[in-house]
Amino acid sequence: MNKNKTDRKQNILLIGFMGAGKTSVGLKLSWKLRIPVEDTDKLIEKRTGKAISEIFRTEGEEAFREMETNLLREISKRPYRRILSVGGGTPVREENRKLLRRCGTVIYLRVRPETVYARLKGDKSRPLLQGDDPLGTIQRLMESRKEAYESCADVILDVDELSAEECATRLVGILEEEK
Ligand code: S3P
Repeated sequence: MNKNKTDRKQNILLIGFMGAGKTSVGLKLSWKLRIPVEDTDKLIEKRTGKAISEIFRTEGEEAFREMETNLLREISKRPYRRILSVGGGTPVREENRKLLRRCGTVIYLRVRPETVYARLKGDKSRPLLQGDDPLGTIQRLMESRKEAYESCADVILDVDELSAEECATRLVGILEEEK
């Protein structure tokens, strides 16, 4: 195994749109690889003592985006290995994309808008999808983020037809090949 590559690619980062399954795939992967998993949304909620929707409501989206970037800056300096799932909007900022790539191997869980809509219909925890036309919002937002996701990914996995368990199994194989 190439040592430099291993050092730079220490962590495993899961990116993708809301509802792609980043959190559940992260948990399955953690179990299979025996590497601890963290989730940036959950870390932010724990540190602030507020739900993400409450942060959006009381402090605004920009404040939340700052929290995400600050957390990634911190994580990029850590010496130990983690699987990290990040919020769907994290790769939109260029600085975040650089930080993600610096942190490790970036895996993009790619999902179709219709799948997201079916999975998140009725969900109240995603402030960006609470309008009158959630499917239209998903389509527009996903289109606007497509390039950001793809440009920072080392690996792209299409997840629409896969369970979290199947995604994790495929990823274990892909990561093994990458070594
Ligand atoms: C967001 C995705 C959410 C959360 C916040 C904003 C986004 O995370 O960070 O609601 O901009 O796509 P999940 O992708 O885990 O749902």
